[in-house]
Amino acid sequence: MKTLNVDLGDRSYPIYIGQHLLTQTALLTPYIVGKQVLIVTNETVAPLYLDTLLTTLSAYKSNTVVLKDGEQYKSLVTLNQIFDAALSNKLNRQLTIIALGGGVIGDMAGFAASCYQRGVNFIQIPTTLLAQVDSSVGGKTAVNHPLGKNMIGAFYQPRCVLADTSTLDTLPERELSAGIAEVIKYGVIRDAIFFEWLESNIEALLARDHQALAYAVEVSCRNKAEIVEQDEHERGMRALLNLGHTFGHAIEAACGYGVWLHGEAVAAGMCMAAELSNRLGWLPEQDMQRIIDLIARAKLPIKPPNSMTVAQFTELMAVDKKVEDGKIRLVLLKALGHALTTADFDGVIFERYLSDSCAV
Ligand code: NAD
Ligand code: GLY
Repeated sequence: MKTLNVDLGDRSYPIYIGQHLLTQTALLTPYIVGKQVLIVTNETVAPLYLDTLLTTLSAYKSNTVVLKDGEQYKSLVTLNQIFDAALSNKLNRQLTIIALGGGVIGDMAGFAASCYQRGVNFIQIPTTLLAQVDSSVGGKTAVNHPLGKNMIGAFYQPRCVLADTSTLDTLPERELSAGIAEVIKYGVIRDAIFFEWLESNIEALLARDHQALAYAVEVSCRNKAEIVEQDEHERGMRALLNLGHTFGHAIEAACGYGVWLHGEAVAAGMCMAAELSNRLGWLPEQDMQRIIDLIARAKLPIKPPNSMTVAQFTELMAVDKKVEDGKIRLVLLKALGHALTTADFDGVIFERYLSDSCAV
């Protein structure tokens, strides 16, 4: 097992990474205050891992809430089911909420923990690659609003993250690739050496080689922890983690949440950011091609859906959280391993790029 630490003063927490961690009671108990536990999971993950977790936590009074599965349920309506479960079971401020699932469950359980009785203890047990390398670390929690993704939420750090890489054995292939998109992101924005390692090991990741997966989770979490430690509330460099996300969120919203997976939309969005950076004269052609090639090898989309229009991109990108004073800010690339967030790019080239990327 590997242990990393997210250093945030008195809110610091460990990330445990390894196989079969779900059965290790001693890893979780230091982070559970009181005797009450509420496990938040969904109807896909519950049959796979809920019993194991309940056995691991048999010393506690565990309640469970099993939500519907899907990005389309990441909403205020579903969130209320968590509060209903907590209140109807008379759970008090000594409660520990545990997220058992992918990023959708982690984001909703974390947001519920941030506001149930003004904040209760929270633990992340991510079971998708995407959640293990990104969403479970760093304290961003949210639900979607029909007018924008992740628009209602809070920063709320967990007490610990338990990334059991054995749970990735049951992950559908498409979800595995979606997680690899976020892994590739760390290489592209700040870790060219890791990018090279990915170029040599992408097939091992797709084949679920456990050593390769554990290494990818570790390096990704280390990169994320370093960024979060310096900029927890995204006043600056944390925005680099959104490479591909402004395009990607527009794709997700335009197609309807859940049609394109978040990681797939981010993958196409990263290719778009790389192509635009190249058109602006910033990113060398060879670096752009390496990014696109690796994303394609990971069985991820490298273009937005054919159905998307320029008008949809411009309208949906305008509600991005990075928009400031009406100006779209994008994460763009100066080189492989060197990203920047900027609103200072040629708008004409941007518009021409969008119209070349869309059929209408
Ligand atoms: P997800 O939570 O929808 O999980 C993907 C699918 O895999 C679901 O059907 C789920 O039930 C299933 N699943 C989960 N674990 C499984 C397992 N071990 N075996 C089999 N099936 C399993 O999607 P995701 O990709 O994990 O997360 C995407 C979400 O994360 C998006 O809502 C995105 O906005 C959010 N996100 C948040 C952050 C953050 O910093 N908070 C970062 C990135 C993404
Ligand atoms: N996934 C983006 C962030 O955590 O900031």
